[in-house]
Amino acid sequence: MAIFAWEVKDGVAVVTLDTPGAPVNVISRTVKEEMYEMLAALERDTDVKAVAFFSGKPDNFIAGADIEEFVQLKSAADAEQLARDGQALIDRVATFTKPIVAGIHGSCLGGGLEFALACRYRVATDHPKTQLGLPEIQLGILPAAGGCQRLPRLIGARAALDIILAGKSERAAKAFRLGIVDELVPPSILQEISIAAARRLAQAPFRRRRKGGFLGLLLDGNPIGRLLVFYMARKQVLAQTKGNYPAPLAALEAVRHGLSRGMREGLRREAQLFGQLTLSDVSRKLVQIFFATRELKKDLGAPGAPPPAEVHRLAVVGSGFMGAGIAGTTVVQVGIDVRLKDADLGRVAKGLLAARDLVNERLTRRRITKFEHARLVAFLSGSDQYTGFGGAELVIEAVFEELAVKQQVLRECEAVLPAGAVFASNTSTIPIGRIAEASRRPEQVIGMHFFSPVARMPLLEVIPTAATAPQTVSTAVGFGRRLGKTVIVVKDAPGFWVNRILGPYMNEAAQLLLSGVRPEEIDRAMVQFGFPVGPITLLDEVGIDVAQHAGEVLQAAFGERMTPPAALAALVKDGRLGRKAGKGFYQYSNGKKGGVDPAIYPLLGVQPNGGIPTAEIVQRLTYAMLNEAARAVAEGVVRSPRDGDIGAIYGFGFPPFRGGPLRYLDDLGADRLFAELQRLAERLGPRFAPSEAIVDQARSRARFYP
Ligand code: 3HC
Repeated sequence: MAIFAWEVKDGVAVVTLDTPGAPVNVISRTVKEEMYEMLAALERDTDVKAVAFFSGKPDNFIAGADIEEFVQLKSAADAEQLARDGQALIDRVATFTKPIVAGIHGSCLGGGLEFALACRYRVATDHPKTQLGLPEIQLGILPAAGGCQRLPRLIGARAALDIILAGKSERAAKAFRLGIVDELVPPSILQEISIAAARRLAQAPFRRRRKGGFLGLLLDGNPIGRLLVFYMARKQVLAQTKGNYPAPLAALEAVRHGLSRGMREGLRREAQLFGQLTLSDVSRKLVQIFFATRELKKDLGAPGAPPPAEVHRLAVVGSGFMGAGIAGTTVVQVGIDVRLKDADLGRVAKGLLAARDLVNERLTRRRITKFEHARLVAFLSGSDQYTGFGGAELVIEAVFEELAVKQQVLRECEAVLPAGAVFASNTSTIPIGRIAEASRRPEQVIGMHFFSPVARMPLLEVIPTAATAPQTVSTAVGFGRRLGKTVIVVKDAPGFWVNRILGPYMNEAAQLLLSGVRPEEIDRAMVQFGFPVGPITLLDEVGIDVAQHAGEVLQAAFGERMTPPAALAALVKDGRLGRKAGKGFYQYSNGKKGGVDPAIYPLLGVQPNGGIPTAEIVQRLTYAMLNEAARAVAEGVVRSPRDGDIGAIYGFGFPPFRGGPLRYLDDLGADRLFAELQRLAERLGPRFAPSEAIVDQARSRARFYP
């Protein structure tokens, strides 16, 4: 089957790109070859005066260059050549003798946008699925089919860098405001308008008016202004990446080079840098994460599981921060009825308001219309009774973390839920198996561990027990995915995966505090290592009391090695619960984080002494985590190293460029970790004793990944 099809209507060739059997269009070697042939045929055809170009995919224009091809590349020279080939094709489009109009609906990303930028005119649908962007940076590479050249020339360096350096995608309306898109239309008239534009362009050339206003002209239009733009961008990149990600700096260099030396030179530099980056370790890791995340999307969570049961109505018990977060996120992401239940109407009202706030936020950010807002808000309802639970296919409980309370809620739910409904607990500390003991149908009981705040945290841990039925698993996984979460299925063991491996890391941070290391030193060291926030800030964010409770659960389950130091208890006693209390390790005023509160030192009974070097801080924290991670993998807490790494990256921001804790451990080598842990254990105590898993791995030279 042909990839390109076209017919000529009144002088306009209407071309459709539709890669057979593929969910999205990508620019692969085959697509490139066929595109050359198609262009040659259209050039020859004297009836064709202009071209209107569309995708045959429902919600995708072109998803970019074929990432699978990058993985096969063996040398920087090969990668550079691949970019050169891509540039040559895009150049062919840009210099095509007849005007080409891109009619864009759906995702138009990377090489897809670079193709569109080379067209003479762009029409896009004003539809949420239409996103235009250059996400290459997120893969550790840079736009290398002319994106670093054409975008700044079209919309100015400042606006282009904003998109390129963050790997951002913009909705069509914003792309139109920026000047990337020339015309914005409803999907129903995309074809008609694009064909009309092609016909117009065949008769008279189009002169585009530059957008960007006075400031744009001032900054982009002269060399000094541009120098300032580059200086600021570089500063921002370094502040954000801590020098851990080379791609944004390379992209900056490609844009700068092109603007100062001209298009040809810019393209040459772009391809060269693409060659270097594609083979880099950072890019390899980021591409692995891309594929691992895609694989997980297709995973139903249990071998041979039937497809998820349809969920048309969700019931949530417990309208606190988590319950309201789950309710609001469901309405925003899935748009189904959500029934909230709590012990009294006051709490229910508070929960409904908090859930509604999430819908309001979408309106404020202009992601939905007023009409859509009204429609979504109407899905939310609540009660202090179990009324309305009869129609729910799924109930998620987010009540107080106490076994007896959760079992009581489960019994009450089972009395009113339809026979096939799934009961999920959002506990982070209680074994799901224990909660299920109160159930008449334990095969329909499961854990769904959301992270806080629900709306923003991308991970969901799904926890089946030995009795959970495969379809209960697929229903929980499927629903989590509809909420936009990346879902991993983990074993019903204390702390599950994320909190289990965070435990020793947090404990070690507290140990460091007690030996006189300043909180900001610990945080700075780990942010430099690549975490989005350091462990002490994380404690303040999560709630010091919550972390303390989680620590106690791990200690009860695993004994001495997980013993939390007394540091947290002293703060909790003082009412320092973190950000939510307005005071923790750091000071807070009006919701803004300030400096470290000196009052913590007498509470901890230490004087800051600056005695421990950064490298040791990093080593102690990460090795404590890796040791526990290896142990948990050996116990089958995660189904695969892939799930473990993705869980750590999405669960608490383990640095993506390191590929996750297990890939990081592979890179370090189990034998080296073993030797270092032994040294730490001798010096600091048995909590660092290498786990059996590490001993075995070091002995057999085994790795998590081939
Ligand atoms: N290359 C290869 N495969 C791709 C791909 C790409 N650029 N984009 C998507 N796919 C594949 C996915 O791996 C998946 O394959 P599978 O079904 O076999 O698992 C399939 O397409 C569907 O993808 P999703 O499951 O992600 O579908 P969604 O509808 O959720 O999302 C999307 C679609 C928004 C296009 C998303 O897939 C995406 O973000 N893709 C990556 C876009 C990207 O990074 N493009 C830049 C590529 S690099 C480049 O262009 C370099 C150039 O400058 C030279």
